[in-house]
Order: sequence, then C-alpha cells, then structure tokens
Amino acid sequence: EPKTPIPEPRGLPYLGNITEFRSEDSLQDLARLHDTYGDIFRLRFPGVGSCVFVGSNQLVNEICDESRFKKSIQAEVAEARLIAGDGLFTAKSEEENWGLAHRILMPAFGPVSIKGMFNEMQDIVIQMALKWARYGSFNPIPASDDFTRLALDTLALCSMGYRFNSFYKDELHPFVQSMGDSLTELGNRTQRPKWAKVFYRSSERKLFKDIDLMRTTSDELIKARRAASNGNKRKDLLTAMIEGVDARTGKKLSDESVINNLVTFLIAGHETTSGTLSFAFYSMLKNPQTFQKAQQEVDTIMGRDRITVDKLFKLKYIPAMLRETLRQCSPIPGITLEAHEDTLLAGKYPVKKGEPITAIFSRAHIDPAVYGEDANEFKPERMLDENFDRLQKEFPNCWKPFGNGMRACIGRPFAWQEMLLVTSTLLQNFDFFLNDPSYTLKIAETLTIKPKDFFMRTSLRHGMT
Ligand code: HEM
Repeated sequence: EPKTPIPEPRGLPYLGNITEFRSEDSLQDLARLHDTYGDIFRLRFPGVGSCVFVGSNQLVNEICDESRFKKSIQAEVAEARLIAGDGLFTAKSEEENWGLAHRILMPAFGPVSIKGMFNEMQDIVIQMALKWARYGSFNPIPASDDFTRLALDTLALCSMGYRFNSFYKDELHPFVQSMGDSLTELGNRTQRPKWAKVFYRSSERKLFKDIDLMRTTSDELIKARRAASNGNKRKDLLTAMIEGVDARTGKKLSDESVINNLVTFLIAGHETTSGTLSFAFYSMLKNPQTFQKAQQEVDTIMGRDRITVDKLFKLKYIPAMLRETLRQCSPIPGITLEAHEDTLLAGKYPVKKGEPITAIFSRAHIDPAVYGEDANEFKPERMLDENFDRLQKEFPNCWKPFGNGMRACIGRPFAWQEMLLVTSTLLQNFDFFLNDPSYTLKIAETLTIKPKDFFMRTSLRHGMT
C-alpha cells in the first residue's frame, strides 16, 4: 500500500494547533477532531513538537506492541518529572532507576501483600461511612472530594502506616491542593510556547512552592519511618522502598529515588482511584437497574456481616460494573507511546522514531467494531468475566485503563481491592440519590479526569454494619 500522510488540521504560525483546544474539556475537543479527521490525526504544538492521536482498537492494538513501541516521556509526563523525577511513572524505561524500583516494588504490590492491607483499607472506608451516616439524608455529599480523602488516606495508611486523617478535617490535606494546582499548571505549561514563560513568573513561583510542599511531605514520612525503624515490624511499601535490595544488581534505592517514588504513589494512587469511584457512583445513579443489581449482589454475598477479603473476590457483577465504568470514563484518559524506529502505522501512515503517539481511550473504548452499536450505553453485563475474556481474546488491547505491558499500572491489585471494598461497604449500608436529579456529567481535568460538581445524598438502610 502507498504511504498516506496522517491527516492534520491547518495550524497557525507560532501557535500551531493549540487553538483546536477550545473548551474547558480537552477530551471533547479531541472527540471533535476525531469526528472530523477520523481514527488518526496529528497536531503540532510550538516548542513541544507534534503528536499523533489514535482512537480505534486496531491502531491502539498496534502501538501496544512493545517490540515496536515504548512509553513516551514527553509533554505533561516530562513536565511531571519536576515533581517526581525518575520515579516509576515518569522514568524512561531505559533509566536504571526504573528497572531498580520496578524489581524492588513489584512483590510489595503482589496479591498476598495487598490482601494483608485489607484491614487498614476497611479502617478508612468505615471512617467515611460513619461520616456519611452522620450527614443524614438532607446534606449533599461532595462525592469526588470524599473519595479523594478516602483514596489518599487509604494509600498513606496501607503503604506507609501514616494517617492523613482527612475525614477529621474540613480542608483537604495541603498535599492534595498542591498536587492539583501543580498538575494543572504543568498541563498549562505544555500548552504555551517556551518563550512565554517570562509572562508567567508568579505561576512558576507557585508551581515550585507546590512541588516543594509535596516533596517535603514525602520526606517527612520517610524521616518518621527511619526514626521509628528500630521497633518497626511493618512490612509495607515504605519498608520495601527503604530496605529492599534488588536481587539482580544488589543495589538499594537512593534516598532521592525513595522520595520520587513516594510522591509518585501518593499522586498516581489516589486521583485515579477516587475518579473511578466517583464515575462508578455517577453511573449507578443514572442507571437504577445497575444500582439494584449491585446492591442485591452485596446483600446475597455479604448479608449484613462485616465484609471480609475472601467475600470480596466472590463478587461478579460489581467488578463488571467497575470495568464498564473504566471503559467509559478512564481517569487516565490516554497513554502515550513512541516508535523505536521510523515506522508505518496501519501499514501506510509514516511516523518518525520518537514522535509521541497518544492512544485516546475515550474514543478507542467506544470503538463500535469492538463494543457494537450500543458502545455508548452503560452495560456492565458486557464486562462479566466470560464476556470480558471473550472480548479481550477477540480484540486484544480493547480495554486499557491500566496502561500497557511492562509500563502498566503497578497499583492495579491495590486499587481493585480498594474499589471492591468501598463499593460493597457503601451499597451494604446506604441507598443513594443524586442531589440534583437533573445533574449530567461534567468533567474536571488535571492529569486525570473526574466528575465535577457531583453531589450525592444518602440514606442509611439500617444500623451501620
Ligand atoms: C501507571 C491507571 C491506581 C501507581 C499507570 C498507568 C495507568 C494507570 C493508565 C500507565 C500510564 C502510562 O502509560 O503513562 C490507574 C488507574 C488506577 C490506578 C485507572 C485506579 C483505578 C494506582 C494505584 C497506584 C498506582 C492505587 C499506587 C499504589 C502507578 C504507578 C505507575 C502507574 C507507580 C507507573 C508504573 C510504571 O511505569 O512502572 N496507572 N492507576 N496506580 N500507576 Fe496506576
């Protein structure tokens, strides 16, 4: 087949295609571009370069081939190195510290360790449930904020024995504020030409203050652990980071690398989980049959007994509901890869070695070739184990919310157990209502996406279990 140039909108001098991002919601802009140009197009950004966007299962599947493509550290992810250095998320695969941290930390995220964190996960979700029970049915609950408190507290308690105690404070922990602000600012930086920095001195100052706060918070957690380390019997993530020795090289993580990874976990581990939970409750509230089925499943499997980790893994419908949520609303809306060598996509579109190629999940996850004409509908049934396995066999890489290959999410088992536990606990104890029945989904965007202005109300079904 002859080479075909990748479609691209005409750009402006100096600004390139930045003006294509017109709304607050860049996923909507990308959807418009896909509607206009098809499953593949290229945009150019001044000072940054160009990026190819792909949105069909076929193209996404192609770039998931690790023999031809690797994770690309450019634009926002490269900027995020200001916060997290060569921590797991922001490192290049070939950097020594990525391999070192990956090998040392993988076992700490294995199924056995995660099961061992169950009691501490339950500790935090009970704090949230008790708060919601005291709210009563008339006070709107800021779902995304409380799920953020929950996910941050859970991560800090399970992985390093530290209590943020966010449910006992009105304000979110300053770490969360600084994280949100700095990620937004890093996103903004990539959208303006490099020479424009001089016009943004105060935002730059604020950015570095926020970064400092996050790194100092992490450093304090490490110091607290070192100070307590004589009597410390906890075998958690922080212990693995501080004491773990890599079998291959005999090396440990440097102090700098421990901070980089701690910040990484605090960031990567809580926005994503809280976003997914918020989207899941939104979707259940908009689809009352799904809500009922999920609640019935909890009643059948858990009854009114205290939830145990073994019972969690008997659930079938709730995992399908969470997978369907992640299909429609992936909190990390895409992943970016680059070719090892100049290559052709779909056998005809030339891309250069190193040019970033972003897989847009909000598009690929509704590819009608995979999900049919009802791809836009919320149907957990299609994600029940048998159906999910069949889909993935027939259409490899059709569901990628946790990323790809060796750079896929290390925290997936952690997040999964937490989300099953939280959903079950809440459905066991509460009925839910939209605070404003006419609310329709609005998206708040940083590096991740989550629902904006989403408020729920609850009523207790019986005394708390
Ligand atoms: C990587 C999604 C929860 C830690 C990733 C990637 C995705 C993802 C898409 C790949 C990003 C890329 O290729 O650029 C999610 C979702 C979650 C979740 C949807 C929850 C529902 C967590 C949790 C943790 C975590 C709870 C930590 C405890 C990480 C880390 C990486 C990563 C460290 C980088 C791994 C590497 O490249 O070696 N995640 N994540 N994530 N995630 Fe998660």
